[in-house]
Amino acid sequence: MAEHQTHRYVVLADELTQLIRKGTYPVGSRVPSVRQMSRQHGVSISTVLEAYTLLEDRGLIAARPQSGYYVRPQTGEQLPEPDVSSPGRDPSQVSLHELVMMLLRDSTNPDLVQLGAALPNPEFLPVRRLNRIITGLTRQANMDTHQYLLPPGLETLRTLVARRLVNAGCSLSPNDILITSGGIEGIDLCLHAVCRPGDIVATESPMYFGTLQALEVHGLRVLEIPTHPREGIDLEALAFALEQYPVKAVLVISNFNNPLGSCIPDERKKELVGMLARKQIPLIENDVSGELYFGDKRPLVCKAFDKKGLVMLVSSFSKDIDPGLRIGWVAAGRFRSEVEWLKFTISAASPTLPQMAVAGFLEGGGYEHHLRRIRREYARNIEVLSNAVMRYFPSGTRLTRPSGGFVLWVQLPETVDSLELYKLALKGGITLAPGYVFSAAQHFPNFIRLNAAEYSYSTERAVERLGEMVFELNKS
Ligand SMILES: Cc1ncc(COP(=O)(O)O)c(C=O)c1O
Repeated sequence: MAEHQTHRYVVLADELTQLIRKGTYPVGSRVPSVRQMSRQHGVSISTVLEAYTLLEDRGLIAARPQSGYYVRPQTGEQLPEPDVSSPGRDPSQVSLHELVMMLLRDSTNPDLVQLGAALPNPEFLPVRRLNRIITGLTRQANMDTHQYLLPPGLETLRTLVARRLVNAGCSLSPNDILITSGGIEGIDLCLHAVCRPGDIVATESPMYFGTLQALEVHGLRVLEIPTHPREGIDLEALAFALEQYPVKAVLVISNFNNPLGSCIPDERKKELVGMLARKQIPLIENDVSGELYFGDKRPLVCKAFDKKGLVMLVSSFSKDIDPGLRIGWVAAGRFRSEVEWLKFTISAASPTLPQMAVAGFLEGGGYEHHLRRIRREYARNIEVLSNAVMRYFPSGTRLTRPSGGFVLWVQLPETVDSLELYKLALKGGITLAPGYVFSAAQHFPNFIRLNAAEYSYSTERAVERLGEMVFELNKS
């Protein structure tokens, strides 16, 4: 059970949340004053203040100067968010491969409603344009497409990536970039370059299970750091952890964590980079969904603040252009030559044709237009799926509010086990990702991740059925 949930202020906040939901304190009404609440419940003033701050964070109440706290209008009503995660304080070995392989099998079954894997919506991929480019390339009567493109990979593509990164706050040369086979290879190469088996890597918690698999393969131990559902890794908790353990690298999904959808605010990214620079600890930054923001501006990357070459920035075009082409890249800073050598040693080169195809797509213009469209669509799908969860799931459910990407992280009532739900859902023709796979120490038994990339009538019915199953499991 999460530590935070046992805290008195959380219990108090949850009680008041229920009263607000039941209409005992309707919109616009004043909730009991801090003093009244403290007397009524026999708790300290500071506990009540903490509870009220939590309710403010949940968007349920707002303070009016000199007047007290009032229930906020619930137009566009939202479920409360999960609390900051509270994983254990010791590193753990990862052993998740059996569960992950089970997920993998089910995520490729076309007969199931796929809410499990974080796959992009195929309709939002620029398939026709890519196919035209590939056809053009294969018609050319030269041998270029049949040669190795040895590390660091196609120069035109690296140049276009470096230009694109200006928006994310980076000033890089094409030589700083290495083309990889997807983001996951980039993460793997970075871990290989800076860690040895048995080393400790600190990560956000929850963390994308593919990354945890890379840690498992390398025999690394994971130190899970409390993570805020909207603002990512908790820097105070990280600073504390770095005092306790000899951490070899820190790994974050800086923009739109999978599964949280959290985005580390830019000034906190700067703080994070500074903190790690003082301790000479490399930061492996995963930014695969960085372009899928819902706000006005692309969030920066931690790499933008990297003065010492300690940030290893990893990304790919899997979420926004084509996951099948397997094109990713790494800007590994001071570890560049090591990472290039590893890339050459492990796979010689990434396939040539996909590198040329992606370069052709980026050069041809229209990428920005394409991104604007899919950002709008994903933001809408996130909203629609959130509303469906709110409609069909029992009270006690909590939900993230991603500011980008296309996944939702759902906290179910504590009695509901996500693996039991997974099995029930599978029988009912639905997949989901159970919380277990997002933590080395399996801290999220009553959480699930849902993919919001595609939304249709059958998704709506599937969420309704899932809600019924959650009700059932909650009763038993
Ligand atoms: C956070 C995160 N990192 C990495 C990956 C893998 O990226 P790629 O397909 O480019 O290897 C994914 C894919 O789901 C992801 O969500």
